[in-house]
Amino acid sequence: MLRMVDVIQKKRDGRELTKEEIEFFVNGYTDGSIPDYQASVFLMAIYFQKMTTEEQGYLTMAMAESGDQIDLSAIEGIKVDKHSTGGVGDTTTLILAPLVAACGVPVAKMSGRGLGHTGGTLDKLEAIEGFHVEISTEQFIEQVNDLKIAVIGQSGNLTPADKKLYALRDVTATVDSIPLIASSIMSKKLAAGADAIVLDVKTGAGAFMKTLEDSKQLADAMVAIGNEVGRNTSAVISDMSQPLGFAIGNALEVKEAIETLQGNGPDDLTELCLVLGSKMLLAANKAESEEDARSQLQTVIKNGEALQLFGELIKAQGGNPEVTKHPELLPQAQYQIEVPAKTTGYVSAIDADEVGVAAMLLGAGRATKEDVIDLAVGIVLQKKIGDSVKEGEALAILHTNKQDAEDSIKLLQDHISITQEKIQAPSLIHTR
Ligand code: URA
Ligand code: CA
Repeated sequence: MLRMVDVIQKKRDGRELTKEEIEFFVNGYTDGSIPDYQASVFLMAIYFQKMTTEEQGYLTMAMAESGDQIDLSAIEGIKVDKHSTGGVGDTTTLILAPLVAACGVPVAKMSGRGLGHTGGTLDKLEAIEGFHVEISTEQFIEQVNDLKIAVIGQSGNLTPADKKLYALRDVTATVDSIPLIASSIMSKKLAAGADAIVLDVKTGAGAFMKTLEDSKQLADAMVAIGNEVGRNTSAVISDMSQPLGFAIGNALEVKEAIETLQGNGPDDLTELCLVLGSKMLLAANKAESEEDARSQLQTVIKNGEALQLFGELIKAQGGNPEVTKHPELLPQAQYQIEVPAKTTGYVSAIDADEVGVAAMLLGAGRATKEDVIDLAVGIVLQKKIGDSVKEGEALAILHTNKQDAEDSIKLLQDHISITQEKIQAPSLIHTR
């Protein structure tokens, strides 16, 4: 008979745990037979002693198997999922889904709302009038087989072990442990049915991982877990020292996604989609090399097939596909207010977190689950790091339904730094 006290002691002393011991902990904590105090010290022991790749693989699988698991086997082809470790104004999912689907990769996207500066992918899609994600699993699977793309809202009881452990980590100072973060993220991807996973690990001021070293460690840990449990997993480390693209806000990001699918998107956002999309095509065995993958992606942007497919997705799920040609059909805010620069110089830093807070103050995101999002509002940056700016020129434009946006204006002016020296734009992709 296993006893939790022995498992705790073994980890405390830095010894490697077995599959049985890790499953004993995950199952026991989920069903309530292991109390919070034992789970707390166990998490702290992991925080200090870390975990081997094998241990992380067992932890990931045990959490993935703790609740419902989505069975995507009725969908033909290799199902590739992308995961981004968060950031501000990250519109990549909206672009990548139709982009890779247009190249033949089945996209069975399960998506959530979540808390944050802007809504999740679901909220963004719901900025398109009529679009709904409450579809049955049967319709979801049928639509992916027909159209290569569908988006469904998260339902059911996915990874309850992770939910319970994440809440405990939050109050025991054990969130920032790489083995725990890596297994938490990977367990959710596995439960959602992915055959292959492409990870976009963000680094910089606006990211969960602030330093390149930490980001690399997290990426390595997740890739090792994925391969340990038999899923083709690769990672890119990308810059979040400033927001991606120009738009932060739900409808504003949909518009930016449409522009990117038209081939007129911001350079950084377009490039990141090409890099991640290439990895997805390779993982799905739809391309022979990075160059081949990139050229396929560029082709479906140029010939309009990716945008066309985005329209078909919208139509299939109840929305008006005309928005892909007329983004002005999306909800629009009542006021547009310029945020003027206070001095002349070069933009040297844009604190993505604070820009996110400014967008949230306008109503673009939720602080609590009950908050209602204003889909029309947000921020469109006019300057990025390295750009020159004159005193009084707009750094950003607020799209708002409140006439008084002083708090957001001040936040942006305080957190978009301007220096006298010329500044180099940061590189977007740090490592592949
Ligand atoms: N995101 C997750 O899903 N899990 C973590 O542990 C940290 C960030
Ligand atoms: Ca953006």
